Amino acid sequence: MSTALAAEDPRINSRIVTAYRQRTPGSADLARQAADLLPSGIAHDARHVDPYGIYIARAKGPHKWDVDGNRYVDYFGGHGALILGHGHPTVAAAIAEAAGEGSQFGASHPREIGWARAIQRLIPSAERVRFTSSGTEATLMAVRLARAFTGRSTLLRFKGHFHGWHDHMTAGYSNHFDGSPTPGVLQGIADKTVLLAPGDTDAVAETLRTNKDIAAIILEPTGSSFGQVPLKAEFLHALRALTAEHGVLLIFDEVVTGFRTSRGGAQVAYGIRPDLSSFAKIVAGGMPGAAVAGRKDILDLLDFAAMAKAGREKIGHPGTFNANPVSAAAGIAALTILAETDANDVAAARAAELRDGLNEVLSQERVPWAVYGTSSGFHLFMNPEKRAITPGTFDPFAATLEELKSQPAHLASRMRLAMLVNGVDLNPRLGGFTSVTHQAADTADTVAAFRESIHMLRAEGELPA
Ligand SMILES: Cc1ncc(COP(=O)(O)O)c(C=O)c1O
Repeated sequence: MSTALAAEDPRINSRIVTAYRQRTPGSADLARQAADLLPSGIAHDARHVDPYGIYIARAKGPHKWDVDGNRYVDYFGGHGALILGHGHPTVAAAIAEAAGEGSQFGASHPREIGWARAIQRLIPSAERVRFTSSGTEATLMAVRLARAFTGRSTLLRFKGHFHGWHDHMTAGYSNHFDGSPTPGVLQGIADKTVLLAPGDTDAVAETLRTNKDIAAIILEPTGSSFGQVPLKAEFLHALRALTAEHGVLLIFDEVVTGFRTSRGGAQVAYGIRPDLSSFAKIVAGGMPGAAVAGRKDILDLLDFAAMAKAGREKIGHPGTFNANPVSAAAGIAALTILAETDANDVAAARAAELRDGLNEVLSQERVPWAVYGTSSGFHLFMNPEKRAITPGTFDPFAATLEELKSQPAHLASRMRLAMLVNGVDLNPRLGGFTSVTHQAADTADTVAAFRESIHMLRAEGELPA
């Protein structure tokens, strides 16, 4: 590399990047191969890591091992799917048994009934369940049901809330907060979305009063990114009351909160009955699978006999892998464990312990950040406005959406790599999920890795001494 180029490349003098590259030559080699095959060499935007991500060879419980043999305490948690950890023996046995019997029958099978029952057991609002293959498909179907049921076309969403990547959900998640269409999305679709600030009850009330075309409100019920920008219970209750008053459907996107915020999701935790809910991730026990569930009279729009009787055209819904039997087996096993054990509470207790431990490091190291969160999750607040805060008592409701979401890209990227070098995999927002398999020793390792990562950042001049 020429001296001029070396001077331009800020990574060249980074000990963190050098240490990362030294630990992960196998991943680097695979990343080079992938770059010639896959856009950015990856399959999911959240796996984009600078200079390259780790390639995982195997995982068990709270740990995963990369192709170079390095072990990581895993808080990415399969994008939130793995509240029971990697390879839970009961779930793995259920998958093996089902896979041995066949993976695609092109027909109904007994496990889809057991799977729907397992959901209904934990989610009282799930009068009917329709399986899809991903959370994106589940929210797409929820919106289609809402529009067909109400005869209205506009969707009310909240800035920063994520509901998958289909056309109705792209603007306003991480950009296009003015509601303009993202690349490849039609203006006409973007025009049928109203984007409001999360938590603004008055704005919702005014919109429902003046816009009679709102079919549904969809939201992440604990706030965007699993409560990185949290919502108050009062707001959820206000949404329930306002939607009922205006004949608007309330859709809880419980793809992440489902079976995690409580075993009955956010809806049971808050005592709110949404009209429709979307589930994915935990619902399929770590396998691909998802569902839309809710009121019978709404899901009747998918029912041949009900629509024939009503003289209405039904909503079509094929899907090769809907209610896939192997995913169904994993889902039944996982949901049964969650229903019959304290796994959900154990994972939450571990996250609380971790949040405390990380905040203690921040206090001791005099870093003005904070770790916060609820149930089995945690988020890192990097304090872009340099507020005077005490890490352990930081109140995210005192900060703005922009502050909570904003992480200096360069610093966050270095922190992520430093944590990987120290054996911990966080999600790209430097937060994560715990599982029932995380142990006190994992918390201790993570706290030590966090302290060491801060020291490394400081040594590079990324943090004030
Ligand atoms: C709240 C929420 N809704 C929907 C989705 C989309 O689910 P999937 O990735 O299964 O399409 C996600 C994915 O992370 C999510 O977090």
